[in-house]
Amino acid sequence: MSFQIAIDGPLASGKGTVARLVAERLHLLYIDTGAMYRMTALQALRHQVDLNDEHAVVNILQTADMQMRPPRDAEKDGRLSTVLLNGEDVSWQIRTEQVSDGSSKVAVHAHVREFLVKKQQAIAANQDVIMEGRDITYRVLPHANLKIYLTASTEVRAQRRLEDLQRRGVDTQYEHVLADVVMRDKRDMEREADPLQVVEDAWVLDTTQMTIEEAVEAIVARAEQLKGK
Ligand code: C5P
Repeated sequence: MSFQIAIDGPLASGKGTVARLVAERLHLLYIDTGAMYRMTALQALRHQVDLNDEHAVVNILQTADMQMRPPRDAEKDGRLSTVLLNGEDVSWQIRTEQVSDGSSKVAVHAHVREFLVKKQQAIAANQDVIMEGRDITYRVLPHANLKIYLTASTEVRAQRRLEDLQRRGVDTQYEHVLADVVMRDKRDMEREADPLQVVEDAWVLDTTQMTIEEAVEAIVARAEQLKGK
C-alpha cells in the first residue's frame, strides 16, 4: 500500500510550499492538482474557448498532454513543480492572473473535474504521494493516510499572495488582491461540483500565526507517527 497525504485548502493558504517541503522531507511525490486546472484554462484560452462552456472545455482537454515533474537543477527559479503542456514549459504562464481566474471557472464543470480526478488518481495509484488541491481529502484520495485542511485568515492569505505577485514583478495592490481572493474562495466553496470543504476526518491546520517551517514540522511529525517511526 502506498502512503498518501491529502491536503485541501483555500487559495494562498501555503499548501503548495508546505507540500513541496514535506515531500522532500518524507520522500513523497508532490502533486499540485491546481496546475492541472490551470493548464486546462490556459489551453482553453489559447484556443479562444469560452470557459463557461463545459462541453467545449472538455473537448479542449482531449488536446492537452499534461506532465508535471520536480524542477531540474537548471529550472530552480522559485517554481514548486515544472509543468509541461504539450511538451512546453508553462510553469509560469499558468500563474498569471488571467489563468488563475480562468482555472476557478473551468473547475466548476463536473465533467472537467471527472476527467482530471481520474488522471490524479492514476498518478497516485502506485507511489507515495502528497497531493494538494480542493477535493483531495474526499474525492481524489478518500482513503489517504493523512488528511489536512490547511488554511489561514483571508487577510493573511491576501497579504501572502500580494508578496508572491510582487516578487514576480507584478504591479498590484492589497485591495485588488484581497477582492480577488474573496471572489475565488467564493467560487471554489459555492460551486455545486465538489466544492472546497472541511471533511470530518481532516486535521485543520490554521497557519495564520504559523510560519511555513512550523507547519512543515507539524505535518512531518504527524506523518512519521502514522508511519510508526
Ligand atoms: O491551487 P490553485 O490555486 O493553483 O488552483 C487553481 C484553481 O483550480 C482553484 O482556484 C480551484 O478553482 C481549482 N482547483 C480545484 N480542485 C483542485 C485543485 C484546484 O477545483 N483539486
